[in-house]
Amino acid sequence: MSDRNFEFLKWDADEYGLGVPEMDHEHQGLVALINELARLARDRAEREELRTAMTKFIIYAKMHFRDEENLMKKILFPFYQEHRAAHELLMRSLNEFFNIVDTGAGILPRSFFIFLRNWLLDHINSEDRLYAEYHRRQSKVASPL
Ligand SMILES: [Fe+2]
Ligand SMILES: [Fe+2]
Repeated sequence: MSDRNFEFLKWDADEYGLGVPEMDHEHQGLVALINELARLARDRAEREELRTAMTKFIIYAKMHFRDEENLMKKILFPFYQEHRAAHELLMRSLNEFFNIVDTGAGILPRSFFIFLRNWLLDHINSEDRLYAEYHRRQSKVASPL
């Protein structure tokens, strides 16, 4: 039975919020898609259903990374290259998990969810927070009020 209220990750604005509305919104979108994947894994969904949900998640993650990279370029964030490299590594791992679903075991392994939980906690709270803080300091300089 599918329980729509099941949440693998809970969005917590105090913990994950960056104070950059568009990015906070997209991070919430990622959490929602991750919860959808966790529900499917729990319900032992078929390969095809997992494939569709993974594709949706990967497209969303790509869009999010591109949006962040564009923002970083716009504000001349000095660690743009490092952040971009971190995104590339994350994308590589996501594609590997996609292959497990697509041509491998046809399941989402537990390690996928451990990876996602760590990604969210670590990447948002360390790397993403750096550009958010840089952005905030810049905005203060631009408008002294
Ligand atoms: Fe992010
Ligand atoms: Fe990021």
